[in-house]
Amino acid sequence: MKAAILYWSKSGNTEKAALAIKAGLEASGVGVTYRRVEEAGDLEWFDYDLVCVGFPSYQFHPPEPVVAYLKNKSGEYRQQGRLKLGSPRIPGKHALIFCTYSGPHTGINEAIPAGKYVGQFFDHLGFEVEDEWYLVGEFHGKEDRSTQGRLGDIRGKPTPEDLSKIREDTVRLISRLK
Ligand SMILES: Cc1cc2nc3c(=O)[nH]c(=O)nc-3n(C[C@H](O)[C@H](O)[C@H](O)COP(=O)(O)O)c2cc1C
Repeated sequence: MKAAILYWSKSGNTEKAALAIKAGLEASGVGVTYRRVEEAGDLEWFDYDLVCVGFPSYQFHPPEPVVAYLKNKSGEYRQQGRLKLGSPRIPGKHALIFCTYSGPHTGINEAIPAGKYVGQFFDHLGFEVEDEWYLVGEFHGKEDRSTQGRLGDIRGKPTPEDLSKIREDTVRLISRLK
């Protein structure tokens, strides 16, 4: 199996999750291509069995550079005739979405719309979205949002334990897909 991890991260939370997924994939014997979205313009999604996409939630959306990347890539695939009505499944093509968030106002509801939105780019092309993982991360630089929000005191998240769980969940995901 071949996997790609594409991620965008400003303050490091999503990058930690991306590295935990990478560790889980490698422990499962999966070959991994690991790229920031900024460096992934030429990466061909269809070359991989599993594409993992990670980003933070910004106002319940993915950040603008992530949206631009996904729109650009799906525009290319549309031009190539790969976006088909009915979005038939392509056997063996899987996607994993991971979104980090701080949920200062409405908790996980701030992340789910972003995760669903990104998943649709893959679903439209025939990839099966195997899972969406939502991981709480400290809101760096805005302490009240890490202490007084709906999720309480989230300073230090994701913790090493949170990241171990991501690694283990990745191993479980791969054993299900193999
Ligand atoms: C400009 C900005 C806007 C954000 N908006 C939200 C938001 O609407 N909801 C939320 O849950 N977290 C929000 N966050 C928090 C981030 O989603 C969260 O801390 C994330 O884990 C950061 O990921 P990163 O460290 O990989 O950049 C925002 C952070 C920034 C910097």
